[in-house]
Amino acid sequence: MSTHEGTHGSVWLDDPGRRRQPASPLVGDAEADVVVVGAGITGLTTALLAARDGNRVVVLEARRVGDGTTGYTTGKVTAQHSLIYAHLVEWAGADRARQYADANRAGIDLVAQLVEELRIDCSLTRADALVYTTSEDSHKIRAMEDEAVAARRLGLPASLVGESGLPFPITAGVSFTDQLHLHPRRYLDGLADAVVAAGGVIHEQTRVTGVTEERGHVVVEADGGKVTATSAVIATLLPFGLVGGYFARTRPTMSYGLAVRLRGAAPAAMTISVDDPTRSTRPWPDGGPGGLIVVGGGHEVGADVDTEGRYAELEAWARATFDVAELSHRWSAHDYTTPDRVPYIGRPPLHRNVYVATGFGKWGLANGSAAGLAISHLIAGHDTPWLPIFDAGRIEGVRSVPTLVGGNVKVAAELVTGELRREAPRCSHMGCRLRWNDAEETWDCHCHGSRFASDGQVLAGPAVTPVDVGADG
Ligand SMILES: Cc1cc2nc3c(=O)[nH]c(=O)nc-3n(C[C@H](O)[C@H](O)[C@H](O)COP(=O)(O)OP(=O)(O)OC[C@H]3O[C@@H](n4cnc5c(N)ncnc54)[C@H](O)[C@@H]3O)c2cc1C
Ligand code: FES
Repeated sequence: MSTHEGTHGSVWLDDPGRRRQPASPLVGDAEADVVVVGAGITGLTTALLAARDGNRVVVLEARRVGDGTTGYTTGKVTAQHSLIYAHLVEWAGADRARQYADANRAGIDLVAQLVEELRIDCSLTRADALVYTTSEDSHKIRAMEDEAVAARRLGLPASLVGESGLPFPITAGVSFTDQLHLHPRRYLDGLADAVVAAGGVIHEQTRVTGVTEERGHVVVEADGGKVTATSAVIATLLPFGLVGGYFARTRPTMSYGLAVRLRGAAPAAMTISVDDPTRSTRPWPDGGPGGLIVVGGGHEVGADVDTEGRYAELEAWARATFDVAELSHRWSAHDYTTPDRVPYIGRPPLHRNVYVATGFGKWGLANGSAAGLAISHLIAGHDTPWLPIFDAGRIEGVRSVPTLVGGNVKVAAELVTGELRREAPRCSHMGCRLRWNDAEETWDCHCHGSRFASDGQVLAGPAVTPVDVGADG
């Protein structure tokens, strides 16, 4: 049972004394070489690298730096993404699978390099990452063996293990050495300071509502004005509005997080199970020797589930598994997954000077840093050898995975049957019925993952305009 103790909100965002001073909103018109929309890890990494290449950079952020999913993440910067490499080798071949591994290695190295060079105080820690099962199911054990072999062949520091450091036995696991975890919001603050130091400009509380590409330039329209630039980078977790149609090529899923303090020492490794329900842990150094982050309880955004119950289940698991002295914080957030589990990074279809990075599938810290690297290379006209697997225009996986169209079938079904219940407001993106999320007190859209505050203001896109919570209610 949940005791409801602890602060409801991200542990990473809850140290206001140590946040950057707010940046002013955009007012009027501005010009830039590169306009970056979204100040999460993807946008700020891109902005910093583009500014260091000599571009005039403007960053537009709807809320505050770190208020997107990066501020609610578990904070593992790792190339281990549950089990993925055996799947990638089978789906895309060894060469492309190697590109995915290389990209994530590059993302990890970039984070480590920037933390050191910029002296960012973000509790960066090297640790092993472990994916495991407790099941006796021979398929699951075989999957671990296959993953260890595939990852090692791709040059990753993987080995098959039978021990976890967790207070229960596992039947098999794959360990990656030399991965990272960090305090994500402090890392973003460090990046934001560096963007400004490199001559960039950041505007917060500035929601972008549209992007138009014209001959030789891009116009980005926002609440308080517009920015005309040579290139635009849409780093908004999912591109807003209809840009690239990515809302129809991804699925949004939520997960729940807890920051707890144990009576003893927390396990040193970052861990994730492949069993149902998924449970993920990592040490939380700022919480003391017993500090631990626990994440799990995933479901699609806006699904008809008991959201309070998900917190309660996660807390019950944490208390049954560890000697929990205190529950410090609890929060939830969402991310988007592509059908083939590989993000889309690069130019969306029909665009020349607009770039996107989306579909990180809850593994966007190393991947998002790699995206920043690749997009800054594209803007500079340089190749990135590992970019092809992330092709932002690919559609193969779309045809092969029927679940992809789920959200769009829901849109069509709701519009055709008129199932839009009178008492629920409609999403301002494409009109789906919103569901009230009791635990977060938000209106959530199960079609493509937009989320709205109780007063109808947009919290997360692809929607860009508020909903009228009174009109239908
Ligand atoms: C619970 C949970 C745990 C996770 N744990 C991990 C982990 O351990 N390791 C890992 O690698 N990944 C993890 N992930 C995934 C990872 O956190 C994300 O993939 C990553 O943070 C995405 O970064 P981003 O910069 O692309 O997006 P965000 O951090 O969401 O940044 C996008 C920004 O764009 C802004 N924005 C949106 N729309 C507009 C608009 N119209 N105008 C202006 N600004 C806009 C938002 O306010 C936001 O600040 C996790 C995800 C979840 C949900
Ligand atoms: S997010 Fe697309 S209809 Fe709501």
